[in-house]
Amino acid sequence: MAYNDSKMWAIVKDRDDVGVTMKRVEIPNVGYNDVKIKIRKTAICGTDVHIYQWNDWAKKTIPIGLTIGHEYVGEVVETGPGVEGFKPGDFVSGEGHITCGKCRNCLEGHKENCKNAKGVGVNRNGAFAEYLVIPSSNVWPCKKSIPEELYAIFDPYGNATHTALSYDVLGEDVMIAGAGPIGCMAAAIAKFSGARHVVVTDFNDYRLNLAKELGATRTVNLNEEKLEDVMKQIGMKEGFDVGMEMSGSQAALNQMIHNMKHGGKICLLGLQNDHTTVDLETVIFNGIHLKGIYGRKVWDTWYKMTTMIEAGLDISKIITHRIDVRDYEKGFEAMLSGRSGKVIMDWAHINELEVKDE
Ligand SMILES: NC(=O)c1ccc[n+]([C@@H]2O[C@H](COP(=O)([O-])OP(=O)(O)OC[C@H]3O[C@@H](n4cnc5c(N)ncnc54)[C@H](O)[C@@H]3O)[C@@H](O)[C@H]2O)c1
Ligand SMILES: [Zn+2]
Ligand SMILES: [Zn+2]
Repeated sequence: MAYNDSKMWAIVKDRDDVGVTMKRVEIPNVGYNDVKIKIRKTAICGTDVHIYQWNDWAKKTIPIGLTIGHEYVGEVVETGPGVEGFKPGDFVSGEGHITCGKCRNCLEGHKENCKNAKGVGVNRNGAFAEYLVIPSSNVWPCKKSIPEELYAIFDPYGNATHTALSYDVLGEDVMIAGAGPIGCMAAAIAKFSGARHVVVTDFNDYRLNLAKELGATRTVNLNEEKLEDVMKQIGMKEGFDVGMEMSGSQAALNQMIHNMKHGGKICLLGLQNDHTTVDLETVIFNGIHLKGIYGRKVWDTWYKMTTMIEAGLDISKIITHRIDVRDYEKGFEAMLSGRSGKVIMDWAHINELEVKDE
């Protein structure tokens, strides 16, 4: 067996069809201000599942040959010229949006709204690989006191945090549409932040149970119960104060709009499709605020993610599957089954995979 040490294992979108492949690719070079991270654990995102399934968004966005993945934790193994503050051996995660540093929002410190952001594992090679190279300005130092696997999900935990902390929820009634991993983590944060009722809707009992374990005070399976009846049962009179749309469903968004108090605030995280029709008449007459949420604030959100865990927030139950990355197909199966929270893939034994002649 010939072994080429300029190559590494990576999960690659290697075809114009469903699926991905673990294959050998070139190890990325370290440039000015870059940090090279040896990946220890990764998590599968809904985005990775879309790339796997090869939906319309993926077809128009993902170049064939791309290494996917953007949720990870690892260890610094090399730093390029110009890097300050990181050294080999540091335990790190990273922000998946590489921003331009030059547009107005970047200059004003609102990197989450950079107009030229490039996504790790979407527009450039990602983290489902033995090594990832990213600019040092995207690297987040991890603390040994926080479990490593939690850092592997800081990206979606960050979406949940950025959304849940967008509006004051102390003593308020919160509706979360969609009990996916992000909705469940948002439920945990809303409850931790002092919300009174945290009502989570979905059609999937497995996921609604997870939402309950994380912090939802009431879950609603919309196949079995009417949201309006539940609101009455729990003594709500005027509608939800804060809504978090985390399903990407038009029906969910309209249901939320119709059940907010006048002047209520809605955060939109779920990705709606091009044809979503929204009842703007109700939005206008009821004075409802709609706020689009993209990514995470850098580094405001990351700081709060860390300190909330240190303050006692527990999101660990969202991790439902832990697998060896050599079994990545099983990881995607679990995500596709609808009976999972987050799936963590461990890269510790990747080098036991047999290298064919290269
Ligand atoms: N804006 C951003 O930066 C950003 C980042 C990450 C993810 N997202 C999006 O956020 C959403 C949540 O992510 P996730 O990984 O938790 O998603 P997910 O797809 O795992 O979960 C969505 C859940 O919504 C449920 N659902 C579908 N229709 C519903 C309805 N009418 N009412 C209530 N629930 C309904 C589904 O059963 C599913 O459990 C997705 O749409 C994702 O694409 C956005
Ligand atoms: Zn993600
Ligand atoms: Zn920018």
